Amino acid sequence: MYVKICFIGAGKVGTSFGLYLSRKGFDVIGYYSKSFESAKKAAYLTNSIAYKRLSPMIKLSDIIFITTNDDAIKSVVNQLSQENILNKGQILVHMSGSHSSSILNSVMNFGCYIYSMHPLQSFADIENSVKKLESTVFTIEGNIEKINVLEWILKKSGNKYFKIDSNFKSIYHAGACVISNYLVTLMDFGFSFFNSIGIDEKSAFEAVYPLIEGTIENIKTLGCKNALTGPISRGDSNTIENHLDSIKVNIPDKLSFYKAMALMTLDLSSKVPSRDKEKIETLKNILQGVDE
Ligand SMILES: NC(=O)c1ccc[n+]([C@@H]2O[C@H](COP(=O)([O-])OP(=O)(O)OC[C@H]3O[C@@H](n4cnc5c(N)ncnc54)[C@H](OP(=O)(O)O)[C@@H]3O)[C@@H](O)[C@H]2O)c1
Repeated sequence: MYVKICFIGAGKVGTSFGLYLSRKGFDVIGYYSKSFESAKKAAYLTNSIAYKRLSPMIKLSDIIFITTNDDAIKSVVNQLSQENILNKGQILVHMSGSHSSSILNSVMNFGCYIYSMHPLQSFADIENSVKKLESTVFTIEGNIEKINVLEWILKKSGNKYFKIDSNFKSIYHAGACVISNYLVTLMDFGFSFFNSIGIDEKSAFEAVYPLIEGTIENIKTLGCKNALTGPISRGDSNTIENHLDSIKVNIPDKLSFYKAMALMTLDLSSKVPSRDKEKIETLKNILQGVDE
């Protein structure tokens, strides 16, 4: 298989992924962007052409990656349709996690095929992102007809991928957000406990970092339920009662989220067959306030 690839949107993802693909031996033919300066930079890095107009670049391409910010994807699709420059059989791909391929629906009127290809990675600076792409897992969805072309690209690049149903893109994205964004919120929640007794976030982070690393390592080797340690997994109800009492007195606004997380942790812990059922019940009653 041989394909000519172009990018609309020469930002962090478009430039990094284009550079990655060109280093993997793919034919990245060029860039078009809102500002010609961005297109020139990306084209220079990928040894391709910066285009001032879309039409000559689109004419030469088999695969068109739309790597603008999410809010601009629709207007690019409208522009491509209005300029009437798409050709039958062309593949259009965006790389957003939040949208499914359906945001590109209207280009199917031109006989084009539509996909989303989301890298489970964060892109800040170009060189680092290109390195990180080596181990990035992608999620793809879209028309069945030519999805094998995207699979071929990822296999040739050595990247693993999930292939999902387009209807589930939003659930997939919500999961990715919980893991990457809400983890930050959870850390901030934990730091607020330290902060309430005069330990600042930076010092707390340095102190708990080995704990975090150990936990991640345990999840990696044992899976979530077996990675659990601490009072809930041991069934130490007195310890949990002490937590609740001191939170009520010192940081009462943290109580409801603490309880909600503790109940979810208890639920996870109860999936380990060796756990003591009676201790689990006692903890549940304490956390649900039955014994208050
Ligand atoms: N960054 C991440 O960590 C990450 C991770 C996974 C997926 N993604 C997805 O990747 C896509 C790109 O994100 P990004 O972080 O690379 O964004 P970005 O750095 O802000 O780049 C977006 C680029 O799109 C260009 N652009 C905006 N409107 C345009 C238009 N109408 N026509 C042509 N070009 C236009 C901008 O142009 P100029 O520079 O020319 O002004 C900019 O260079 C998004 O769909 C995002 O959800 C991002």
